Amino acid sequence: MLRWEEAPEGPALVLLDQTLLPAEEAELRCTDVPALVEAIRTLAVRGAPLLGIAGAYGVALAAARGYDVEESAGLLERARPTAVNLGRGVRAAADAHRRVLAGGGSAEAAASAALGAAEELHRADAEASRRMASHGLALLGELLPGGGYRLLTHCNSGALVSGGEGTAFAVALAAHRAGELRRLWVDETRPLLQGARLTAFEAARNGMPYSLLADNAAGSLFAAGEVDAVVIGADRIAADGSVANKVGSYPLAVLARYHHVPFVVVAPTTTLDVSTARGDSIEIEQRPGREVTEFTPPRAGADAARDGGVSLAPLGAQAYNPAFDVTPPGLVTAVVTEEGVLSPVTGGGIAELCARSRRV
Ligand code: MRU
Repeated sequence: MLRWEEAPEGPALVLLDQTLLPAEEAELRCTDVPALVEAIRTLAVRGAPLLGIAGAYGVALAAARGYDVEESAGLLERARPTAVNLGRGVRAAADAHRRVLAGGGSAEAAASAALGAAEELHRADAEASRRMASHGLALLGELLPGGGYRLLTHCNSGALVSGGEGTAFAVALAAHRAGELRRLWVDETRPLLQGARLTAFEAARNGMPYSLLADNAAGSLFAAGEVDAVVIGADRIAADGSVANKVGSYPLAVLARYHHVPFVVVAPTTTLDVSTARGDSIEIEQRPGREVTEFTPPRAGADAARDGGVSLAPLGAQAYNPAFDVTPPGLVTAVVTEEGVLSPVTGGGIAELCARSRRV
């Protein structure tokens, strides 16, 4: 969903502009860090694992183009606060750069080390995605021995957010390929519609049986007994196992508990953050109110952001627009990582997974 491009006029990071999907598949060429920061803020590039990869390539871009790498790393790291992968990816590339300079290496060698770190993160994420899909499919087999799963997902966690096929979506896709996916229920995911615009797009591309629902239809869907498991991704998992993910995930966890349905979180170990002790210490991004008070349909051109959308509320209406919410570990049936499955979700288990992945 992104690629590094070498060109005579200098390198660029080329992104699929996710703000335009599904209407248009257009690429966005970032040739400097401010352009990439803007792409991150506007969600042209988004989703925790891909933010980490993009951040690392952003540092490589700054180094290759001769910008101040430390300053660029700071700008990238602060572009969005919740997904821990972003800062982690940025730091991996910046550390690689710094190490070469500290060892007396040239600026070119340092730039090449930063690029190498970004490429390694990209490759490792694709591998993690494959392993999560396999562990997740095995877990579904244990939790739901009857097969023929009806899975509910929220936001977007497929190939659009990953070096591979994604996190939670990759598990649903593996179930589909195994002939065991009866239906993928796709929450539309207000206000920016990552479910309707992106997950439905990916499900259709993969020929999966899916149905879109308004977020507030989830309750009656559970009540009708139509959901066998919830599978979602994560932006940050704290040391106690609390899971920050797209706003609307926590209500699904509450519904799942009430209806005795497993609530499964699928995330690479790069999303585990043992330096954040508890869920209430996770910084939750607050986004502009106009994302709630207006509807901006995806359409070609950067003028969408400039012009604003169709007003849905009276002029001057205030809005509450957190981008994420936090689900306490007690509501999470299992966390699936590339290192294996953690269930029940405990602080000790999170620490062990981190140690196993050597990314503490
Ligand atoms: O605001 P977004 O679209 O970047 O939010 C993305 C999500 O919440 C995803 O569910 C999360 O990053 C996990 S995807 C692997």
